[in-house]
Amino acid sequence: MKKIVSIVGARPQFVKLAPFSREVRKTFREVIIHTGQHYDPAMSSSFFRELGISMPDHQLTNGGGGQGRQTGLMLEAIEQALMVEKPDFVAVFGDTNSTLAATLAAAKLGLPSAHVEAGLRSFNRSMPEEINRVVADHTSTVLFAPTAAAMEHLGREGLADRAYLTGDIMVDAVQASRERAEGRSDILGRLGLTSNQFSLLTLHRPYTVDEPAILKSLLEALAELEEPILFPVHPRTRKTLERIGYPFSGDDGTVQECSDGTGGSRGAHGVAEAKTGSLVLTGPVGYLDFVCLQSHARRIMTDSGGIQKEAYLLGKPCITLRPETEWVETVESGWNLLLPPGNRNLAKRIREFQPSVTQPAIFGENVAARMVGVIRDQLGVG
Ligand code: UD1
Ligand code: UDP
Repeated sequence: MKKIVSIVGARPQFVKLAPFSREVRKTFREVIIHTGQHYDPAMSSSFFRELGISMPDHQLTNGGGGQGRQTGLMLEAIEQALMVEKPDFVAVFGDTNSTLAATLAAAKLGLPSAHVEAGLRSFNRSMPEEINRVVADHTSTVLFAPTAAAMEHLGREGLADRAYLTGDIMVDAVQASRERAEGRSDILGRLGLTSNQFSLLTLHRPYTVDEPAILKSLLEALAELEEPILFPVHPRTRKTLERIGYPFSGDDGTVQECSDGTGGSRGAHGVAEAKTGSLVLTGPVGYLDFVCLQSHARRIMTDSGGIQKEAYLLGKPCITLRPETEWVETVESGWNLLLPPGNRNLAKRIREFQPSVTQPAIFGENVAARMVGVIRDQLGVG
C-alpha cells in the first residue's frame, strides 16, 4: 500500500485534515506529522479527539518564536521525519509557517506533494501567510484550488497545468460536523446565550491584535453593539489583552471580562454569563462548540480565513475585520462585509449590514474525494 504523509501544525489545518485523512485512508496508508506550531490542548489535541483524527505519528515541538526561527526549526525536523517515512506523496494544507516548512522539506527531498487550498492571494505581502502560499504553490506538484478565483491566480502565475479546481475542503468539514455539533454541544446553555441574540467574534491577525492601542480601540468600537459579543480568544490575542489589562483567570475556556470594566460574573455552572452590550471572553473553544456557536450567532465578526468560509457555509452574515480578503466570492455574493478595524462608524456599519437573499454555491462539494482521486491518478493507483 502506498504511503501518504500529511503535515499539519496549526488549528485550521486540523480542521482541514479531518475529512482529507478520512478519505485518504480508504486507499492509502497515511502518516501524520504534527509540527507542534500550535500546542495548547484547546488549540491542538482537542481537534484530533473531537474530529476523530488519528493521533500524530510524529509529534514535533516547534511552537512560538520568530517567523524565521520557527520555520527553520520545523523545516529541519520535518525533513528528518520524511527521511524516516520515505512516503510516496506528501500533503500540505493552507498557508501557515507549518505549510511553508512542509512544502520546502518535501521539495528539497524530491518528494511529490499536494497543496490543499492553493491559489489564494490577498496581494498583501506584509502577511506571512501570503509568502507561505506563494512558495507552497510554486513548490508543490499538484495544486488543489478551492475556488474559481484561486484557479485564475494560479493560471496567471504559470501554474495552470498543475492546478485542479476541487472545491474547498472545509465544505466536507462543515458537512461532517454541523449536525454532530447541534446534537452534542451544550455551549449556548453553558454560556447563557440565546440563539440569534449574540454576535461571535474572533481576532488573531498580527496587525489587528499585536498592537495594544489598535486592539483596544477595536474592542471598544465593537462593544457599542447592543447584543452580547462572545469572543473566544486566540493565544496570540490573549498576550496583548493581558498587556492592556483584560484579566484571564484560567485555561478552561470559562474566563470573562466585560467591556464596561466591571469584570463580569460566573454563572451557576462556573461559566461566563453574557451581559447586554458587553464582550464575553472565553479561551479558544472546541470545534463542535465553535460550529454550534456559529450556527446560532446572529452575525460573525472575524479576521480568520477559515471562519469567513464557515460563516458562508452556515448561512451567517460575516463581517471581516480586515482591509482585504482571500475569499472574494463571499464579499461579491453579498454575505461578507469587509471593514478594516480603523473604520469610523464600525458598530453602525455592522448593525446595518444585511446579507443577500440568495447564496451561490462557491466552494464545491465532495471535495476530499476529488483530491484523493487526483492523488490516485498521480500515483497510478486504480
Ligand atoms: C498561525 C498562522 C496563521 C493562522 C493561525 C491560526 C503563521 C505565520 N500564522 O498564527 O496563518 O491563521 O495560526 O490560528 O503560521 N501560542 C500559544 N499556544 C498555542 C499556539 C500559539 O500560546 O497553542 C502562542 C505562540 O507561542 C505565539 C503566538 O501564540 O507566541 C502566535 O502563535 P503562532 O503559531 O506563531 O502564530 P498564530 O498567530 O497562531
Ligand atoms: N475554531 C475553533 N474554536 C475557536 C475558534 C476557531 O474550533 O475558538 C475553528 C474554526 O471553526 C475554524 C478554524 O478554527 O475551522 C479557524 O482557525 P483560525 O481562525 O485559527 O485560523 P485561520 O482559518 O484564520 O487560518
